[in-house]
Amino acid sequence: MTSEQVKTKDAVTPRKSKRRWTPNIIVFACNWCSYAGADTAGVTRIEHQPHFRIIRVMCSGRIQPAFVLKAFERGADGVLVSGCHFGDCHYIFGNERAVEQFERTQRMVKLLGIEDGRLRLEWISAAEGARFAEVINEFTDQIRDLGPGPFSSRRAGSNNGKP
Ligand code: FES
Repeated sequence: MTSEQVKTKDAVTPRKSKRRWTPNIIVFACNWCSYAGADTAGVTRIEHQPHFRIIRVMCSGRIQPAFVLKAFERGADGVLVSGCHFGDCHYIFGNERAVEQFERTQRMVKLLGIEDGRLRLEWISAAEGARFAEVINEFTDQIRDLGPGPFSSRRAGSNNGKP
C-alpha cells in the first residue's frame, strides 16, 4: 500500500463513522400537499433516509415559531417546514403566512445560536414523492454534517437538560 492509499483510507474512516450517526429530524408537513407527498414517496417505494418524524398540520401557515423552537428544545437536530406550492394552498394564503412565520422563526433560531442549516422550508406537492425523498436525503446529509443539535442529549458535554 502506498502512502497516498493510507492517507485516503484515513480520510475515509471518520466520514464512515459520521455516516453511522442517526439524526433526529422533525418534519412539519401540511395535510394536503407535503404530507401527501411523503405518502406518495412511501407508496411508490422511493428510497429515502428514514431518520425523521412527520408532524401533520392542516396548513403550513399553522407552523408557528414556537413549534419549531419546541422541537429544537426537545432535542431535534434539524427541522423541516413544508407545505403546498404557491397558488395550491387549500387555505389560499396559508403558505404566504408560512413564509412570514418562517422568517420570524429564522431570526429567533439565529438569536439562540442555532446554525442556519438546521432549519429549512420547502414546498412539496402531493404528486412530488420523488422530490420529498430528494429533500429528505439532502437535509439528512446536511444535518449529519452539522452533528447533533444544540439541545440534543447526544451532544458532547450534554447533561440532557439536567442541572
Ligand atoms: S394547505 Fe398546504 S400550505 Fe396551506
